[in-house]
Amino acid sequence: MTDRKTTRIAVLISGRGSNLRALIDACAAPDFPAEIVCVLSNKPDAGGIAHAEKAGIPVEIVWQKDYTSKAEFESAMLAALGQYPVDLICLAGFMRILSPNFIARWPDRILNIHPSLLPDYKGLDVHERVVADKCAESGCSVHFVVPETDAGPVIVQERVPVLPDDTPDTLAARILAREHVAYPKAVRLFAEGKLLVRGNSVAIQED
Ligand code: GAR
Repeated sequence: MTDRKTTRIAVLISGRGSNLRALIDACAAPDFPAEIVCVLSNKPDAGGIAHAEKAGIPVEIVWQKDYTSKAEFESAMLAALGQYPVDLICLAGFMRILSPNFIARWPDRILNIHPSLLPDYKGLDVHERVVADKCAESGCSVHFVVPETDAGPVIVQERVPVLPDDTPDTLAARILAREHVAYPKAVRLFAEGKLLVRGNSVAIQED
């Protein structure tokens, strides 16, 4: 939580960056209480880098292949992020698990978006598993990051129906559209100081 008027965000990506683009678009609104100060990609060819460049946001590339250990890779990420005044880290399709050490540097200040209704369907291949299980509903969750993967307190969820003829791809597309709504919503709540973390749940303070 921060009492500054503008929350300064670092967005971490690994891929196409459509959630990054949704956050860039949200931050462009004059009344949005956050700005993206840098984008960090762990892949030099991530499609999302182009969204950052188009918006004039500095990009840091920290490629794990350039480092011999996870500790060195994460030190390089911390050094890259340390160049900016970052209040909040948003993982947006960042496909590396962060170590407890890294997370401890940013307590209750790292958010992630996951394409399921957590605590259901943590981990990978979510849509394949949801379709195979013939679930009636799925969705996405924005949550605080804790050392256990996809297990932190949930801030915002958006729900969608799973249709009888859905494939993992059609379901993923339906959910992605809701991700682009959920992430800016969660960032706004954070930036407005409305999130109270109590154990593994989040209370949202009313106006
Ligand atoms: C999104 O669907 C996001 O929820 C998912 O990766 C995709 C990234 O898309 N993240 C995870 O599965 C994390 N466990 P994007 O690069 O277009 O934002």
